Amino acid sequence: MPDPEELDRAIAILRSGGLVAFPTETVYGLGADASDEAAVRRIFATKGRPPGHPVIVHLGHADLLDAWADEVPPAAHLLADAFWPGPLTMILCRSERVPDVVTGGRETVGLRVPDHPVARALLAGFGGGIAAPSANRYGKVSPTTAADVRSDLGDDVDLVLDGGPCRVGVESTIIDLTSGEPELLRSGGISIDRLAEVLGTVPRIATASSSATPRAPGMVASHYAPAATVELTDEASVVDRSAALVADGRQVGVLAPHAVDGLGDDVVELEPAGDAEEFARLLYGRLRQADRLALDVLLVIPPPEIGVGVAVGDRLRRAASPRG
Ligand code: TXA
Ligand code: MG
Repeated sequence: MPDPEELDRAIAILRSGGLVAFPTETVYGLGADASDEAAVRRIFATKGRPPGHPVIVHLGHADLLDAWADEVPPAAHLLADAFWPGPLTMILCRSERVPDVVTGGRETVGLRVPDHPVARALLAGFGGGIAAPSANRYGKVSPTTAADVRSDLGDDVDLVLDGGPCRVGVESTIIDLTSGEPELLRSGGISIDRLAEVLGTVPRIATASSSATPRAPGMVASHYAPAATVELTDEASVVDRSAALVADGRQVGVLAPHAVDGLGDDVVELEPAGDAEEFARLLYGRLRQADRLALDVLLVIPPPEIGVGVAVGDRLRRAASPRG
């Protein structure tokens, strides 16, 4: 739990239009009073994020759902009962209290009740909604420790609450409930199987072609990529591929679920990332480490695509896709 004095300071900063970075179970968020347009605009300026990208509103309790959203369908209450507090964001019709700057002018709003003692204490003390994207500079991977936040944002944030390393490690699952059929916009901490169990139907998965405009704007590949080139590989190929890259003069690292035998001395083996859950928890830290080590190429053997492993695979494919 945070020190009560620091928590009071965080609440005072939010009330006066300032920015507080805070831990959630997924990644750290860069928070501002969601009802204060000028404060939310400061989030965009601080991140260097283009305007028009909607930000998620974090709430202290599921009871606040109807205050921040209109025409809330029964499915939203079912999902809130099952998964809040937790790593699920629901896109719903916004209520009048949600300012344009939060939604990028859309008629919808993303809502989530995070599951982290510091976030919950902050939200309970503050009372209102906290608008918060991930607390990284635009284009960087999301921060999963307070040190990551400080290295990205430095003095541009008024206070960083330190709640230790994030337990989930990848962002929340985003589900859009504003059309008749639930649609998954981003895989994340809650798997599609768990959503399907509660909904009684498997949500449609949004594809680029399922709508004319991007449904979760800002989900571009570069957000999930380190400076190093990420290349996906497998057990059978990793040793040969790493040797070929080293022979080509590249600084090469390997990230795998477990130790890999037979890698050359010049290959940097990052500490293995374990099963899908542990891989998710460690992923962004390892990508940041790849940059600190100035690797040219990071070869990654992904974990199995079960549970949160689906989100890990999604983020790794984005990181590995060519950047424009
Ligand atoms: O786990 C998380 O979701 C973290 C923590 C801090 O809660 N937050 C996070 O925020 O990942 P951000 O801003 O980095 O990503 C939020 C995503 C963006 O892709 C945004 O486009 C989408 O949510 N989003 C937010 N509101 C939306 C809306 N009304 N309609 C469609 N997409 C929305
Ligand atoms: Mg982000």
